[in-house]
Amino acid sequence: MEQQKRYGHFDDQHREYVITDPQTPWPWINYLGNEDFFSLISNTAGGYSFYKDAKFRRITRYRYNNVPMDNGGRYFYIKDGDSVWNPGWKPCKTPLDFYECRHGMSYTRITGRKNGVEASVLFFVPLKKWAEVQKLTLKNESNEVKTLKLFSFEEWCLWNAATDMENFQRNFSTGEVEIEGSTIYHKTEYRERRNHYAFYHVNAEIQGFDTDRETFVGLYNEFADPQAVMEGKPRNSHAHGWSPIASHYIEITLQPGESKDFVFLLGYIENEQDEKFSAPQVINKQKAHALIAELDTTEKVDKAFAELCEYWDALLNIYKVKTGNDKLDRMVNIWNQYQCMVTFNFSRSASFFESGVGRGMGFRDSNQDLVGFVHQIPPRARQRIIDIASTQFPDGGCYHQYQPLTKRGNNDIGGGFNDDPCWLIFGTVAYIKETGDFSILDEMVPFDNQPGSEVTLFEHLKISMDHVIKNLGPHMLPLIGRADWNDCLNLNCFSWDPNESFQTTENVSEGTKAESLMIAGLFVVTGKDYVALCQKLSEYSDNSEYSDEAARMQQAVDAMIEAVKKHGWDGEWYLRAYDFYGRKIGSNECEEAKIFIESQGWCTMAEIGAEEGMVAKSLDSCKKYLECEHGMVLNNPAFTKYIYEYGEISSYPEGYKENAGIFCHNNPWVIIGECIAGRGNDAWSHYAKILPSYVEEKYQTLHKVEPYVNCQMVAGKDAYKPGEGKNSWLTGTAAWMWYTVSEFILGIKPDYDGIRIDPCLPETATDYTVQRKFREADYTITIHPNGSQKGVKTITLDGKPISGTVIPYSAGKHTVEVTM
Ligand code: GLC
Ligand code: GLC
Repeated sequence: MEQQKRYGHFDDQHREYVITDPQTPWPWINYLGNEDFFSLISNTAGGYSFYKDAKFRRITRYRYNNVPMDNGGRYFYIKDGDSVWNPGWKPCKTPLDFYECRHGMSYTRITGRKNGVEASVLFFVPLKKWAEVQKLTLKNESNEVKTLKLFSFEEWCLWNAATDMENFQRNFSTGEVEIEGSTIYHKTEYRERRNHYAFYHVNAEIQGFDTDRETFVGLYNEFADPQAVMEGKPRNSHAHGWSPIASHYIEITLQPGESKDFVFLLGYIENEQDEKFSAPQVINKQKAHALIAELDTTEKVDKAFAELCEYWDALLNIYKVKTGNDKLDRMVNIWNQYQCMVTFNFSRSASFFESGVGRGMGFRDSNQDLVGFVHQIPPRARQRIIDIASTQFPDGGCYHQYQPLTKRGNNDIGGGFNDDPCWLIFGTVAYIKETGDFSILDEMVPFDNQPGSEVTLFEHLKISMDHVIKNLGPHMLPLIGRADWNDCLNLNCFSWDPNESFQTTENVSEGTKAESLMIAGLFVVTGKDYVALCQKLSEYSDNSEYSDEAARMQQAVDAMIEAVKKHGWDGEWYLRAYDFYGRKIGSNECEEAKIFIESQGWCTMAEIGAEEGMVAKSLDSCKKYLECEHGMVLNNPAFTKYIYEYGEISSYPEGYKENAGIFCHNNPWVIIGECIAGRGNDAWSHYAKILPSYVEEKYQTLHKVEPYVNCQMVAGKDAYKPGEGKNSWLTGTAAWMWYTVSEFILGIKPDYDGIRIDPCLPETATDYTVQRKFREADYTITIHPNGSQKGVKTITLDGKPISGTVIPYSAGKHTVEVTM
């Protein structure tokens, strides 16, 4: 492979990725905001903002799949004589003398220079504020006086992002704004049922404005050459219907060497029903005024920014590693943890591949996401677990998705994905191990959000396990239902109708023999966790009910292990499933897709048949048949034709998505399998293949998407362009990469009574230190691998040897030395 063009590099000291060429192979984006107000921002300032829900509270407009790509965002136009340019290059695309975009932890700084003027914009959402700050610093670096004309630009979305792109017969008549001083208010639908409005403010006097898009841009012009800007003349337009925008116009004179700051603020406000208006038709702006007053000077903004940086310092101080390998350290210490926070916040809702109008939060997705996040802000993970469990049904099944704004289960998609219940165990156990907070199990949690139906969370866990046991097929393996983790393996959906959704069609299931080995493995892994939890509970409470429950579930787990060994083994690897008719899927007997990754991952993690050599054979088969230069593909060989009995999986062309793509999410399952088996060299080589920093070094052009985070899918070996990435940011890969490296490779595992030390490393690993805050304790753990891949020999805690591999928890600062 020849050396590929590079578009940027890591700056670890500032925890930034620095983009030095605006024409990246795809927009490289960042996320702003941490709790309520969120923005997506690309390296050319494209993107949009929303409050809590990307569908129902979209604040600014964005057009997906546009030509050219990534059009629409927060733009500053600088008119300097005849030249008009933007600090982020787009939309004018005037060549710049210098361009740089720094994506950092919840902030982005874009700097452009042209003809002796530097414009640098810092974008961030201050903690606990419902606003995006855009601090623009203009500096005259020339020897002449500069007279500049500055135009800001935002385009309002008419709140519901779906109807905004559809219902033009209504939309073109509803838009309303108010203008007051340097603030432009967007109040479409405020007169009726909306109790919210947005505003765009600048902390300077303006010499003009525009709020009507056509007037500002011109009917036959584009964002690249808005008429008002090109002519240097704002129109002071007032939008009535059509497309409301917000643009400030400011005339600026800068002496040589002089610089000026402007604080732009995009805010969101909610009013009480009886406080909506200050006069007929006039918005009550009190809260907007208050919010503006909190952020109307450079000093206030700098302080808010410093607070945001401290917030991230604290979060990233919880788990820190020093291995001496920069590529590993920067992913563990910065970007992997950052991506985990973003996926926790956004689930699969809004990215440059997820339009924000589609699905809500996934039951299984959210449970997995929180495992990557629970060490950062445990109370938020706790609340998430309760929210998720509240969408469960009394029989243990659950809604596949729920809406974040209402927290209600999503009826469009419904339930019947039979892996879903197990994930609740996975998430809850991770939370308790991190925090020691068993009280979450006593929380009263409803079914389907119905008041009066509450039972304890523990009861929810129990029925989750039972849901699997009560839905076994002819081989005593779990029935797959609509699909398991692989949403596209639709074994009970027989569809010849292109207008039917694979996800929601279940034509047949009566009499089905479709069983899943992936759920079998998942059940054994989470079943063992559940048994251990019950044992802990009985130990702590002296209540024999818990030990009985542990025994009951252990039996079910043992039975499942036997069923897998008997009916789930193909000779060299685990089968993937049985179809509706009871025929093998993922078997050497099959014509295509002879082996699948998911069951190899889960059954090796579950150590099913380890003594019989199944685990080692399965892992070897992954290397032999699934591994390629860019990671492990999902199945091999790829499907080349549509198989009616299998559904969506065979609808994808070879090498993409669930049909033999490298679906990064599941690579860590095999890597953990390798770690549990003690095969550190193999674990590491699989891991490094999909570790963004290693990909960054080699494949910026080919990989296409952001080199600082994982993407959901990389084109597999059967694809036209193996190695090309898609669907960046919002993927369970983030949490799984984190879980894998923090607990299984580096080997620092939270446990009920302390921290278990159990690394699995490549032979080449050298001494490393992990700084781990855990509950009220702060551990400095140094590991001496001594060339060993696995197996802890000795541990000393504060200088004294301890037996076993669990450092018993006690508050305070501790030093731990581990030799392998
Ligand atoms: C997507 C979905 C996830 C699913 C996976 C495989 O990542 O968010 O729920 O398990 O695809 O189909
Ligand atoms: C589509 C995607 C799959 C995703 C699913 C979620 O089928 O291909 O990756 O998991 O939608 O609904």
